[in-house]
Amino acid sequence: MKTVISPSILSADFAILGEECAAMEKAGADELHIDVMDGHFVPNISYGAPIMKSLRKVNKMFFDTHLMISEPLRYAEDFAKAGANRITFHLECDDDPMEVIEKIRSLGVSPAIALKPKTPAEAVFKYIPYVDMVLVMTVEPGFGGQSFMADMMPKVAAVRKYADENGCEISVQVDGGIDKNTVGFAAAAGANNFVAGSALFRQDDYIKAVAELRAAADSQKPEE
Ligand code: DX5
Ligand code: ZN
Repeated sequence: MKTVISPSILSADFAILGEECAAMEKAGADELHIDVMDGHFVPNISYGAPIMKSLRKVNKMFFDTHLMISEPLRYAEDFAKAGANRITFHLECDDDPMEVIEKIRSLGVSPAIALKPKTPAEAVFKYIPYVDMVLVMTVEPGFGGQSFMADMMPKVAAVRKYADENGCEISVQVDGGIDKNTVGFAAAAGANNFVAGSALFRQDDYIKAVAELRAAADSQKPEE
């Protein structure tokens, strides 16, 4: 599967967000990861659909929207209209996951489902045939700059194994503490989509940072 590098704009300089994202695009990043936090599902508030709408006007990249919010059903349409290409919601949210998946698809957007560290892989199995991606969180959601949880790798492997065994061609994404030293563990476990905030936006040279992350992931990628 293609290695996808998805810079998390949570670590960007919001005062010059458009330029930051343009620089990441130029550096060869594949997607932009947009973290939405409601101060309820997670103990932090980030930004919402209006910011995405402004960014959409100046950037044509694939918008990977990570909704860390309690009521994804209520807000999915706002994010679709603001330019989301994929909407990832949490299995632990207050809504019925199947209903959220159907809603996202009905909006013409790609649905994906995320798991917090304490949620087991088995909890997502029944939804795998209906989504395009599963996000295995490798930190507790809410903040950038936390340490990678290597003990999530068996979960990544279990999700990949279930998908393979059931003929589901999904992406497996990891998010949290991903850098050139940790990304290889996730790639080896079966992840192919890598979110990184600090390891990309907090670097001086974006071209070098994207290239090094991609090379480190590719070097550990399992044979197909
Ligand atoms: C955390 C967010 C992440 C965060 C990752 O809740 O979902 O996307 O920005 O940041 P780093 O890569 O710095 O751990
Ligand atoms: Zn995220």
